[in-house]
Amino acid sequence: MASEMVEDLWLFGYGSLIWKPPPHFDLRVPGYVEGYVRRFWQASEDHRGTPEAPGRVVTLIDRSHWETLTDQHSDAPPTTWGAAYRIPARHVAEVREYLDIREINGYSIQYTPFHVSKTYAASHELPAPIDCLVYVGLPDNPQFMGPQDLQGLAEHIVKSRGPSGENKDYLYGLDQALIELGEGSEDEHVHDLARRCREVESRACGNIGKQADSHGPGSRLQRVGSTDEQEEIEK
Ligand code: BEZ
Repeated sequence: MASEMVEDLWLFGYGSLIWKPPPHFDLRVPGYVEGYVRRFWQASEDHRGTPEAPGRVVTLIDRSHWETLTDQHSDAPPTTWGAAYRIPARHVAEVREYLDIREINGYSIQYTPFHVSKTYAASHELPAPIDCLVYVGLPDNPQFMGPQDLQGLAEHIVKSRGPSGENKDYLYGLDQALIELGEGSEDEHVHDLARRCREVESRACGNIGKQADSHGPGSRLQRVGSTDEQEEIEK
């Protein structure tokens, strides 16, 4: 019997995969998918929380479903930015097994067209669009939380932690990774939550209002030695 031909796998990351790549990828491409809305509406019992105290991570909601919901962030861009990874055929089985263990907590597999960022496409020859595997926490999975009160969500994220670390570091990492992906990739839902979390942290430090957006906890511009700090302020 002829064995099935395995092809390269393309995987779309819109959460931690953006800054924590899968093993064995040989190409990382910035870009976006359409028809979804990214929200911190998935409970995490295995990474940023525990079964007793689940944290919150992102999922993608089908845009037509999201439009039927009441969301305090009532706007969402038509594109969801992230990074696509190419996994060479010889590593596909191993990487799929790794991802199914790393990411399975409530997520299902879908395939969706991925559009390469214009800047990247200008200097690389790639198919357009690329069919990508994506993990989606569907509304019927037990971890799906649905619309969340934003301030309550921020406060929940600040106090949650799990085997992969602090929940707030996941949020701050995602916010920063999206900014770094390039023009148009920022996500107001993520950015606003990060701002609220920094405010919650500042308040907890008795430091309300001070440097909350650009130099507060979780910001890349952390307090450093006085000379370095001075340089960062002046640059
Ligand atoms: C990600 O894109 O990082 C991701 C999101 C949900 C499940 C698995 C991976």
